[in-house]
Amino acid sequence: MNVLGIETSCDETAAAVVEDGRRILSNVVASQVELHALYGGVVPEVASRQHVRTIVPIVERALAQAGLKWENLDAVAVTYGPGLAGSLLVGLNMAKAIALARGLPLVGVNHLEGHIYANWIVTDKETPPPQFPLLCLIVSGGHTDLILMREHGEYQLLGRTLDDAAGEAFDKVARLLDLGYPGGPAIQRAATSGRPENFPLPRAWLRGTHNFSFSGLKTAVLRLVDELSRRPDGRTALPVADLAASFQEAVVDVLVEKTVEAALLHEVREILLAGGVAANALLRQHTAQRSPLPVRFPPPNLCTDNAAMIAAAGYFRLQAGKVDSWDLDAVPTLRLA
Ligand code: KG4
Ligand code: ZN
Repeated sequence: MNVLGIETSCDETAAAVVEDGRRILSNVVASQVELHALYGGVVPEVASRQHVRTIVPIVERALAQAGLKWENLDAVAVTYGPGLAGSLLVGLNMAKAIALARGLPLVGVNHLEGHIYANWIVTDKETPPPQFPLLCLIVSGGHTDLILMREHGEYQLLGRTLDDAAGEAFDKVARLLDLGYPGGPAIQRAATSGRPENFPLPRAWLRGTHNFSFSGLKTAVLRLVDELSRRPDGRTALPVADLAASFQEAVVDVLVEKTVEAALLHEVREILLAGGVAANALLRQHTAQRSPLPVRFPPPNLCTDNAAMIAAAGYFRLQAGKVDSWDLDAVPTLRLA
């Protein structure tokens, strides 16, 4: 079964075709990063206009790269939330137009569900699918959620961030350190030559809960930068690599320890990482090292926003008999659980 996936919830215009929810036939992502980098973050109006410009050629390219024609598609899956209203509407209307014109089922996918299902995508047929019950840590620009999944399409929220999302913290700290946007990859790069022990930073453990908090850590970095900048050599000598390394380690420490703790408590069979921050090498490495359970994470390009993950999640929704009607609307604040 070939599912066309469409994703326009934020600043990537993406389309992909995935076979049987697991094998990528094509995966096209047009990033708007350069457009928004000028402003240091995503500008909603700029994003939706850019989606309008690129959505048609991107879908056509996804079909061409898959070597398929319109009649070879079996369904259309599309992100309908959470995300920017104007951006979501572009993908949603494109998906409806295609589904209506071709007489195909339309399936709306929660963007976070898509991130989780990136873990079902494989490059070889031998890799077995994730085993339930499982625990998924979703770490993106807008979310830091610990989700317990006992079955396909079943999501129980165990904990979440009480303030900043992990990705948001990376982006804000990158701005403090003049590392540019998006911050996650920039911090990871800067941290490679840094010594985290030079600037120990606080960790909010929130013991007894599965929740997270990153705003105190962000403020601690801000104070440190202020203090260091007031020294005679000022900002020019700011130890950016050490600060980036220390910040990254503090975030990863808390994410890993709390995820492993929740996984053991709920006796799951495996741990999944998902979302843009799951592309972080230190997070991947430390989770794998510290977990006694199997740990799975998508390749970096499937951690950040893409449409293959939407097609994969859409396939499993269709398998469960879930199809949407033409009145499916964009839900900017859509929740998973
Ligand atoms: O999932 P995603 O692409 O978009 C949302 O749904 O939000 O996540 C984007 C977030 C950004 O905050 C970005 O800085 C972060 O993921 N990110 C990373 C890395 N790559 C992307 N954070 C840490 N390390 C990375 N390598
Ligand atoms: Zn995302």
